[in-house]
Amino acid sequence: MTDDLIEENDLVFLILDDRRRWLIKVKSGKEFQTHKGTIFYDDIIGKTFGSVTFSKPYDSQGYKFYLLKPLPSDYVTHMTRKTQIIYPEDAGLILMYSGIGPGSRVLEAGCGSGALTCILGNYVRPNGHIYSYDISEKSLKQANKNIHSAKLSDIISITYGDILKDDLNLKDIDSIVLDMPQPWDAIEKVKKYLRTSGTLVSFSPTIEQVKKTTAALRENAFIEVNTYELIKRRYQVKENATRPEVRMIGHTGFLTFARNVHDEENPFRERKPEKSVFVDLNGMPLRSSDLS
Ligand SMILES: C[S@@+](CC[C@H](N)C(=O)[O-])C[C@H]1O[C@@H](n2cnc3c(N)ncnc32)[C@H](O)[C@@H]1O
Repeated sequence: MTDDLIEENDLVFLILDDRRRWLIKVKSGKEFQTHKGTIFYDDIIGKTFGSVTFSKPYDSQGYKFYLLKPLPSDYVTHMTRKTQIIYPEDAGLILMYSGIGPGSRVLEAGCGSGALTCILGNYVRPNGHIYSYDISEKSLKQANKNIHSAKLSDIISITYGDILKDDLNLKDIDSIVLDMPQPWDAIEKVKKYLRTSGTLVSFSPTIEQVKKTTAALRENAFIEVNTYELIKRRYQVKENATRPEVRMIGHTGFLTFARNVHDEENPFRERKPEKSVFVDLNGMPLRSSDLS
């Protein structure tokens, strides 16, 4: 295996210590200023990812910086953002439970700063595609910049479009990913773009949104409707002081997943009563005869 060399226009994850770390784009003839000295890009072009460089001037600064190849989680947490972005742990669950992978065709709304869009783009390579829409010109501009930096412009199309109103001229989409304020209003509309057995994922920060989205999914013949919340806790590992870190992000959002089916009435069995009409305390359907 050959070493991976840093080239012009590469993104590099520059690490000084646990708190001071940056995602930089390498440009020959240019430099990156930190308060611990200057990193000259010409000094790092041609070095291997995983090596180190020292800040200039060497006599007054000379700090050691690590040069790592960015992971998807580094793109997400360090890219320029204009909107709330998806966190790496949530993105991980989205990938596992949506089935998005090489070759997948994905519809996303909204793209926001493009953080999740870039992660998805990375996973559908080499022959999949992300069709991403947003109604904010500011978001579209920022997302386009981030996608260009991540070298994913051929895998991702970012377009101005209102998922609630516009006809998107798409079909046989494998997965739909919604991260927008009113996903429940989009469900009926986007179902027609999704192939049967395809997956829909919705990210929402509040449980009120989750309830409305779940109701809309059930009304539109989606099955396997499940909601999860992930809580990630980092550990400080030190001699005689190993414990969870005191500060953490307590809540990111809820992830609702569903599968699209082409539903049919069952001609062989009596219809069950509507759950919302006859349910016991555990939510189990009751027969109307039990009520008299
Ligand atoms: C929280 S941001 C998405 C963040 C994104 N997932 C990321 O990781 O960067 C929500 C976005 O949804 C967009 N949006 C809201 N309503 C929309 C609609 N009807 N159609 C398309 N996009 C919409 C907003 O403009 C906003 O940029």
